[in-house]
Amino acid sequence: CTVRHYKFNVVMKNTTRLCSSKPIVTVNGKFPGPTLYAREGDTVLVKVVNHVKYNVSIHWHGIRQLRTGWADGPAYITQCPIQSGQSYVYNFTITGQRGTLLWHAHILWLRSTVHGAIVILPKRGVPYPFPKPHNEVVVVLAEWWKSDTEAVINEALKSGLAPNVSDAHTINGHPGRVSGCPSQGGFSLPVESGKTYLLRLINAALNEELFFKIAGHKLTVVEVDATYVKPFKIDTVVIAPGQTTNVLVSADQNSGKYMVAASPFMDAPVAVDNLTATATLHYSGTLDNTPTSLTTPPPQNATSVANNFIDSLRSLNSKQFPALVPRTIDHNLYFTVGLGINPCPTCKAGNGSRVVASINNVTFTMPTTALLQAHFFNISGVFTTDFPSTPPQVFNYTGTPPKNLQTRNGTKVFRLAYNSTVQLVLQDTGIIAPENHPIHVHGFNFFAVGKGLGNYNPKTDPQKFNLVDPVERNTIGVPSGGWVAIRFRADNPGVWFMHCHLEVHTTWGLKMAFLVDNGKGPNQSLLPPPSDLPKC
Ligand code: C2O
Repeated sequence: CTVRHYKFNVVMKNTTRLCSSKPIVTVNGKFPGPTLYAREGDTVLVKVVNHVKYNVSIHWHGIRQLRTGWADGPAYITQCPIQSGQSYVYNFTITGQRGTLLWHAHILWLRSTVHGAIVILPKRGVPYPFPKPHNEVVVVLAEWWKSDTEAVINEALKSGLAPNVSDAHTINGHPGRVSGCPSQGGFSLPVESGKTYLLRLINAALNEELFFKIAGHKLTVVEVDATYVKPFKIDTVVIAPGQTTNVLVSADQNSGKYMVAASPFMDAPVAVDNLTATATLHYSGTLDNTPTSLTTPPPQNATSVANNFIDSLRSLNSKQFPALVPRTIDHNLYFTVGLGINPCPTCKAGNGSRVVASINNVTFTMPTTALLQAHFFNISGVFTTDFPSTPPQVFNYTGTPPKNLQTRNGTKVFRLAYNSTVQLVLQDTGIIAPENHPIHVHGFNFFAVGKGLGNYNPKTDPQKFNLVDPVERNTIGVPSGGWVAIRFRADNPGVWFMHCHLEVHTTWGLKMAFLVDNGKGPNQSLLPPPSDLPKC
C-alpha cells in the first residue's frame, strides 16, 4: 500500500476579500487550504507545523480513524492542541472509504479559514459506479468575516450574546460579484460542451447550511459524505456544514456563462447574512468574468426545497457497496438537542443570563486534558460516564416553549461496548426557536433510518424506518422542530466527539462524546498514542 506525505504549515497570510484585507490563519498560505489526495487503503502522514500564535489542531472530518483516534484531531477530545512552534504528525489509514470529505481546524473558530478538501479515489483499477467524468473539480463553500473570527467568538463568549454572522459566503474562497466591490471576481469553472464533470461540493462554513445550484443545469447526485448513493437528478442541493456532496453536471448547453449560486438555508426565524456567493460555469470560447444566465436562489426558509433533496437520498446498496444497517439494537438512545438560557452573573450583556446549548439538558464543558488521553492512561477526574440515555424529564418539545430551559454543566460521555449496535434518535427541542442542527459523529458513519416532524413516537415511528437502503453519512441535519433516527455499529474503540456542526452551537455546549471500549479479539483495541502527541 502507498504512504502519502503532506506538510501543513499553519501560517498567517494577509488576504483580501470584499475589498478589505486582514491577516488570516491558513494552511500553506491558502484559502481554502490545499486538497489532500489519497486512494482508499493508503496511509496518510500529515505533518502539521504551527507557526501562529494560536493553538491549533486539525480534524479529518469523516475519516473513520479505525483504532487511530489519536489522529482524529478535536482539541481536548482526542489530543491536546499543537502549541505555537510545535508540530504533530497525523498518521492514519483510509479504510473502506472513497469519495469527498474535508479537513478543518478543530479548536474554537479557527476553521473559518483553516479548512480544505479530502479527495479519496477508489483503489487503483476500481471504477466509479457512475460514468467516468471528463474532469473533476473541488468546490469548497464557506463564509467570510471582515473581522477576525477568533475576536468575534471571544466577544460573544464574554458578553453572553450571539456572535456576529459572516459578511459573505464564498465559493472556492471567493464571494463573487457583490455591489460595493466591483473589482472583485469570482471562481470560474470552465467546461466543454458535451462533456460531464464531477463536482465535489463541500460545506466548510462555520454556521450555515447552504443551497447550491447552477443556472440552466441539473445536478445528478452520486455520493454524499464519501458514500455512494442511488443517482438522482435535482435542481438544488442542500449541504450542512461538515457535509459533502458529489454531483455530475452535464455541459449540455452549446455556450454561455451560467451562474453558480450558494445561498443560506435556515429554517428558523433568525436573520442570517443573505449574500449569495456566486461563481461562473463558462463554456469554452466565452470569457469567464460575469455570468449572463442567472438563477434565483431559494428563499432562506425554503424547507420544501431542502426536503426534496434530503428525502431523495438512498444508499447505493449494491453488491459491491452494501448498506450494512444494524438490524438489532443494543443501545436505544434518545437525545434532545437544542438551545437554552442559563444564568451567567459574570456576563456583561444578556441581563445576567446567556444562551447555552445542550444534549439531554447537559451543556458539555471542555476538559483541560484530552478525553482520549484520560481514557487510555486512566487519568481520573477528567470526565464521567453518566451521560443520560434520555432527557431528564418528558415534555412536549415542539409545543409552546416549555419551562425546561435549565441545563447542567458536565464533561459526560456515553459508554458503548465494543461492536454493540446503537440506535440514536436526535430530537430538536425548539426551546428558544426550532432550528436545524447538523449533528456530526466522529469515528463512524451512520445510517439515517428515519426522520419526522414534531415529537418522535417510539411506538409508531420505528415501523416506518428504512432498514434496506438508508443514506449513510457522518453529519445529518436534525430538522427544525423534528427528529432523525440514526443507527451505527460501535466497532471503533476510542473516544468520539458528537456535536452540532454549527460552530456557534458547539461553542454553546451542543456536544458530547461516546467512549467505545476495546474488544477482546486481535485488532480490536485502540492503538497506543504516537510519541509526538502534543501535551497540554
Ligand atoms: Cu467537522 Cu468535530 O467536526
